[in-house]
Amino acid sequence: MRTRLMMLGPPGAGKGTQAQRLAEALRIPQISTGDMLRAAKAQGTPLGLEAAGYMDRGELVPDEVVVGIVKERLAGADVAQGFILDGFPRTVPQAEALAEAGVQLDAVINVSVPEDELMARITGRLSCPSCGAAFHRDNHPPRQEGTCDACGSALIVRKDDSAEVFGQRLRSYQAKTAPLAAFYQDRGLLFEVEGTGPLDVIQARIRDIVDAG
Ligand code: AP5
Ligand code: MG
Repeated sequence: MRTRLMMLGPPGAGKGTQAQRLAEALRIPQISTGDMLRAAKAQGTPLGLEAAGYMDRGELVPDEVVVGIVKERLAGADVAQGFILDGFPRTVPQAEALAEAGVQLDAVINVSVPEDELMARITGRLSCPSCGAAFHRDNHPPRQEGTCDACGSALIVRKDDSAEVFGQRLRSYQAKTAPLAAFYQDRGLLFEVEGTGPLDVIQARIRDIVDAG
């Protein structure tokens, strides 16, 4: 079984949604740099203050900042059986830093969704600030309006989920993150997953890759 995993894909591809389900099923942690940075921002820590401007503009936070928090997280005892990186690495230098730190991956799951659907997903998203779960006004509404199904917290609209900031996030993705597909393809680790359709169907596509290893 492949348990050292990374989710790759544009904003709104469903990385977080699928990573959270998979993490529960495999009982391994989901490590979302976006969630970690948003938590630091909400707490007003020096890291959060540094990251806030980049995030609100839809730009990537500098590599050295993100690499530092991921290395620290991967030193935790709970990653011994595996982990799901969600939103990291996001640049070739981040991927190189991960490899240099001795962290090996078993599979990089590249989730693809057409651009117009990404926009509709992002502008209708409702997010849980406590556990990171994502819902959607139309596609995937919470059971009780405004409340997270998973942990009961009040749902919010992420500050970077406007149409304008989404455009910048997509440009950052295309310029800096998309080249990671070739990077991991060269290393024999890339697996493509079609990211449209029901959540369970996409999860099953990912499970096929995980279970085949
Ligand atoms: P991050 O939080 O990682 O955001 P992102 O990559 O833009 O991705 P999203 O979280 O927006 O999308 P997702 O793929 O997780 O989709 P989701 O499952 O929520 O990063 C935010 C910011 O932090 C960055 O812009 C950057 O500033 C900074 N940052 C983070 N990591 C960094 C790094 N490594 N380096 C530098 N900077 C970093 O789904 C989206 C919506 O679609 C939801 O509403 C969901 O319900 C719905 N949906 C999901 N699947 C389906 C489906 N199959 N059908 C219909 N709707 C669906
Ligand atoms: Mg996410």
